[in-house]
Amino acid sequence: MRAIVVSTPGDSSVLEYVERPDPAPGPGEVLVQVAASGVNFIDVYHRQGRYPLPLPFVPGSEGAGTVIATGEGVTDLVVGDAVGWANALGGYATRAVIPADLAVPLPRGLSPELAAAVLLQGLTAHYLTHSVYAVRPGDDVLVHAAAGGVGLLLTQMAKLLGARVIGTVSSEAKEKLAREAGADEVLRYENFSEAVREITGAGVHVVYDGVGASTFDGSLASLRPRGMMALYGAASGPVPPFDPQRLNVGGSLFLTRPTLGHYVATREELLGRAGELLGWVASGALKVHITGRYPLAEARRAHDDLEARRTTGKLLLIP
Ligand SMILES: NC(=O)c1ccc[n+]([C@@H]2O[C@H](COP(=O)([O-])OP(=O)(O)OC[C@H]3O[C@@H](n4cnc5c(N)ncnc54)[C@H](OP(=O)(O)O)[C@@H]3O)[C@@H](O)[C@H]2O)c1
Repeated sequence: MRAIVVSTPGDSSVLEYVERPDPAPGPGEVLVQVAASGVNFIDVYHRQGRYPLPLPFVPGSEGAGTVIATGEGVTDLVVGDAVGWANALGGYATRAVIPADLAVPLPRGLSPELAAAVLLQGLTAHYLTHSVYAVRPGDDVLVHAAAGGVGLLLTQMAKLLGARVIGTVSSEAKEKLAREAGADEVLRYENFSEAVREITGAGVHVVYDGVGASTFDGSLASLRPRGMMALYGAASGPVPPFDPQRLNVGGSLFLTRPTLGHYVATREELLGRAGELLGWVASGALKVHITGRYPLAEARRAHDDLEARRTTGKLLLIP
């Protein structure tokens, strides 16, 4: 098999395309012939060592394909099943060993490419809009990087739930995409909290902030009293240490730093969220924007494009 391997943390040049022996699934695992791997910001953090992993490792948290072997004790998946996953390492490869309890059986007719494009970012948008802060009709919602992978899905889901969505983006082309996804207002980052106040008066009910360092202060300043700051990522860098008294001054605000794994904590929760998500994709209620397909061997280029803010929507690696 072929795989991308990281042997030392660093910039995209540490992503090496190599030949490896075929892996065998252990107890409770399945071996998958990968049809597509999703590229996500977490892969960049793993590569950089910001979220350290034992070295060497095959990056990639998301993918989809066909089960070609099952390990001991796997009873609910068989060879030939189409599966996808959003929270298991090793997807940047032609073959990946995945824990069976993290594999989501794909509905008939859903292409593995589409599953690899939507599972991680879609499950993230799902838990953010349904569980971290359950969006209600009439809520004002601020979505940063609204034309990004998570951002386009968050925008659509918040609209499905009846919110008014304000998005931030860095360019006109990104603004167009965010509007097409349903954003009611689209702002640039400069002084965005003042613009949010002008639009909403009291401020927004919730901010979904995956940008981090450069937006954090403005996000807090955009909230209405008792509003929720969902800091779910750090595309611009990590937020420095924080004085909780700022939540008091801002209006008894809430701050959470959630992560997907804790919101798909059981198989039941994973399959429940995934079932709803893939149902919306199949019905067309949710549009998935695949904007970049890169050969697996060109993972470096995919990372460079993502980090340089050149991308919108979803990037895939095709083995
Ligand atoms: N906690 C979780 O469970 C979870 C799960 C999935 C993803 N995430 C996080 O969600 C965020 C978005 O992930 P994604 O994969 O969908 O990426 P993405 O949004 O497609 O790409 C990142 C976007 O962030 C914006 N950005 C603002 N400042 C930036 C900077 N200095 N450098 C790079 N980008 C910057 C850019 O959009 P503009 O040019 O429009 O600003 C860029 O396109 C990431 O922080 C990721 O870690 C968290």
